[in-house]
Amino acid sequence: MRYNLFHQVHQGLRSLLYQTALEVQHTDFLQTDEAGQALELLQMVTKLFDRHAHTEDNYIFPLVKTYEPSVIDAFEQEHAKDRLLSMLLIESMKLYADADTGEQRREAGRMIQSAYNKFLVFNLEHMLKEEEVLNPIIWHYYSDDELHKVTGTIIQETPAALMQSFNECICNGLNNAEISQWLKTVEQQAPDEVFLQLCQTAEQELPAGRWRKVLNRMTEGGGCVSVI
Ligand SMILES: [Fe+2]
Repeated sequence: MRYNLFHQVHQGLRSLLYQTALEVQHTDFLQTDEAGQALELLQMVTKLFDRHAHTEDNYIFPLVKTYEPSVIDAFEQEHAKDRLLSMLLIESMKLYADADTGEQRREAGRMIQSAYNKFLVFNLEHMLKEEEVLNPIIWHYYSDDELHKVTGTIIQETPAALMQSFNECICNGLNNAEISQWLKTVEQQAPDEVFLQLCQTAEQELPAGRWRKVLNRMTEGGGCVSVI
């Protein structure tokens, strides 16, 4: 099986989209404290998707552009549409922040839901298209070793605070076997403090039962339990 550059981060972003969708649906926008939690998640969504598009534009699309420029042209246009949908969402959040009356809050809440649903649908389709269209081209021209190096560069270039937010989403978006494998790889390849931080993040994000299963899987081949 070939290395899928997109899998881990896209699973994390999908998880954030689903979690936020339910939070928005459960929010009574007349209650400003309830709305605060939803707005916090929505801000995280726009921030992480913006960074992710920046990463793809700078580190992944150039891999394909050399060989298939028209394909990348189409994906760059999708990123431009994504930016517009993100701006619509941010504008609706500003309307909510500026609302003075209950009716204005209710209307701004309705606009937030509408803008968010459009953003979610577009990005679910967009991410799947990237994996189904770009991966076969990437795999044709690059080895897995080269692609792992691209991932390494992306991790190095991502600011630490954003990396932490991505890692939290990824913990929520992967299955137990994938998380165990991820932690094992980080244990082998990264400094101890990076590995310990990631273990703490996984423990914090996962329900206790899932974290126990992840640890059990890691110890099957000799793992990190001693450092937890
Ligand atoms: Fe993208």
